[in-house]
This record gives sequence, C-alpha cells and structure tokens, in this order.
Amino acid sequence: MINIDKMNIAEPYNMFRKYYEEAKKKEQKIIEAISISSYDKKNSIVDSRFVNLKYVINDEWIFFSNYNSPKSKQFKSHDQISAVIYWNSINVQIRMKAKIQKTNSEFSNEHFQSRDMTKNLLAILSRQSEPMSSYDDFLKNYEKDLSLKFENVTRPEYWGGFSFSPYYFEFWEGHNSRVNKRKFYELKNQEWKSGFLQP
Ligand SMILES: Cc1cc2nc3c(=O)[nH]c(=O)nc-3n(C[C@H](O)[C@H](O)[C@H](O)COP(=O)(O)O)c2cc1C
Repeated sequence: MINIDKMNIAEPYNMFRKYYEEAKKKEQKIIEAISISSYDKKNSIVDSRFVNLKYVINDEWIFFSNYNSPKSKQFKSHDQISAVIYWNSINVQIRMKAKIQKTNSEFSNEHFQSRDMTKNLLAILSRQSEPMSSYDDFLKNYEKDLSLKFENVTRPEYWGGFSFSPYYFEFWEGHNSRVNKRKFYELKNQEWKSGFLQP
C-alpha cells in the first residue's frame, strides 16, 4: 500500500486519490509499483526500472533505494525523471514528470526502522546492480546472516529515500469505445493548468 494520509488535498492529487481508492477496491495487485525513467548522462542513454512507491506526503512522492546504484548516479548527474503507473484493475495509466532529490536522513532512518529485518539485511548486504559471481553463494550468505538475528541495526548511509514533486501529470482512462480519456495537469507559475489530450 502507498501511504497517502498526508497527501496534498488539491487537484491533481484528488484525482490520484480517486483512482487509488478505486484500484484498491478492485484489489489491484502490486499497487505500489511505479516505473521511474532517468537519464544516464555519462553514456547518453535513458534507463527505466520499477520501484515501490511508499508515501505521498504533501506533493512529494517517495521511494527507497541504494544510493550507490546506477539509478542514484543517474539522478545525481541529471535530476529530471519521468514516472508511470498502470493499474490494470481499473485500466488507468498515470504519467508524471518531476525533479528528483534524496529525502533527509531522519526520514530515511525512520522508514528503515519501520521495515522488516529481512528487507533491511538485504539492503545492507546488496551492492545493488554490481555483478556477482554466484547467485547461490549470495543467497547462502544472506540466509546465514538472517539466522544471526540482528537487533538494533542502523541504516547504512548507502540506502535511503528519494522524493520527487511532479510538475506534470497525465491521467489516462481506457474506455471500451477506444476513445480513451486523457486529462493532463501542468504546474505553471505555481498554478495547476489542466486540459484534455486527443486519444
Ligand atoms: C515491482 C518492483 C518493485 C521494485 N521496488 C524497488 C524499490 O522500491 N527499490 C529498489 O531499489 N529497487 C526496486 N526494484 C528493483 C528495481 O527495479 C531495480 O532492479 C533495482 O533498483 C536496480 O536498478 P538500477 O540498476 O537502475 O539502479 C523493484 C522491482 C520491481 C519489479
């Protein structure tokens, strides 16, 4: 689930809330998954991956990752991203464009402490996206460490949150008629302008 308790209450956030509640009602599986696209400036290529959206606080969309991973290096060299969600249970796509940054360390600490130890151990052990010689050896090491039953583990500095505040949204609703409905919102001079796009 995405924690939206403290989400902005104005449009276009209300629109997001409406679809989110509908998708939950329809028991949408993997409702947190959001694809984040970034620009790899060093190699002049673009890159995408899914992450789990954990919170929307005010207008900040927050997920967590490894700060040494390729995505993190890409965000550092180029702070613009695009993001997309698709909920098949309601046939709705939500696209966003935004600037991305790290969350503050207190927030990352709090979230880390709220997580299951099995997830935190993996966050500690993994040098995310670096090659490894053997999947089985990694798994064995992880399971061995899990059996040690750690207590009071602190967040490693190489793991934490990212937050982005969209300046553009597009809500796409699939219709049986094929005339799909596309509503966009664009932030201009701190005001949201909206309109419809041809299908
Ligand atoms: C549904 C789904 C959710 C995921 N959630 C996360 C996540 O929250 N954080 C994360 O670092 N990776 C997550 N991953 C793994 C990423 O897609 C990706 O493999 C990893 O972050 C490495 O990406 P990078 O090499 O571009 O940095 C998720 C994958 C899937 C399929």
